[in-house]
Amino acid sequence: MTLLDGKTLSANIEKNLITQVQDLAKQGITPGLAVILVGNDPASCAYVQMKAKACKRVGIYSVTHEMPPSITEDELLSVIEILNKNPNIDGILVQLPLPSHIKTSKVLEAINPQKDVDGFHPFNVGRLSVNLDSFVPATPLGVMNLLKHYNIDVSGKDVVIVGMSNIVGKPLAALMLNAGASVSCTHILTRDVSAYTKNADIVCVGVGKAGLIKADMIKEGAIVVDIGINRLESGALVGDVDFENVSKKVSFITPVPGGVGPMTIATLLQNTYKAALYRLTQRA
Ligand code: GUN
Repeated sequence: MTLLDGKTLSANIEKNLITQVQDLAKQGITPGLAVILVGNDPASCAYVQMKAKACKRVGIYSVTHEMPPSITEDELLSVIEILNKNPNIDGILVQLPLPSHIKTSKVLEAINPQKDVDGFHPFNVGRLSVNLDSFVPATPLGVMNLLKHYNIDVSGKDVVIVGMSNIVGKPLAALMLNAGASVSCTHILTRDVSAYTKNADIVCVGVGKAGLIKADMIKEGAIVVDIGINRLESGALVGDVDFENVSKKVSFITPVPGGVGPMTIATLLQNTYKAALYRLTQRA
């Protein structure tokens, strides 16, 4: 069994980005990321802090706009409009979830698609679905890059995705399809998830349920990508996979922490760098 070590790969990506960002600085451009955080959900606060710290490590300018949970949709939309027009801001990221009185789709659609470093705008979602260049959500793109780094070719493989969120499962399905995999999408209404996972060459799971994927659900020698993050009562951080038992029968598996998580952050930085490059070709 080989661990898919996202911690080491993401550190290498960051190292390369430092040089790329320095080269861009010679052309007078410092990539800028604006992060909008509404409310004080502890997990969201922690993610936003991690993103800001990562920007700092590679020389990307970042600013976090902290909004009270009572902010109206119109107020939030006007902040986005200002950021859309700000030439020093290349990427705009609205941390999800948003409070229920705000329509998430309306907010995401207000972001200039050329600044949509999360890849959540329907413009980018659509381009990804037809395999055109686009911003791709950081977590699934990080998964693809992690697999590629370990020379895992998904073409022709049977891939099962467990969990069909707009943030992870759906874009991952599109990426896998574009890369030539046969993709099964399983979700909350799937009657028998194990009927799918048992036969899969690659299982990717991002549901947020500790211990969901057990050893008897996985084929001998399969590849398992754990995208879940769960905090146990003991304080321990675990994924959605019963790592201890599943790891005994797989060929490759991501650890949690140290697998997909750091890849997400590194990929967001890459997306922000990509957005900054639009300054050279003029942003719409
Ligand atoms: N909430 C959970 N994951 C993400 C993410 O990748 N981006 C944003 N904006 N919010 C999230």
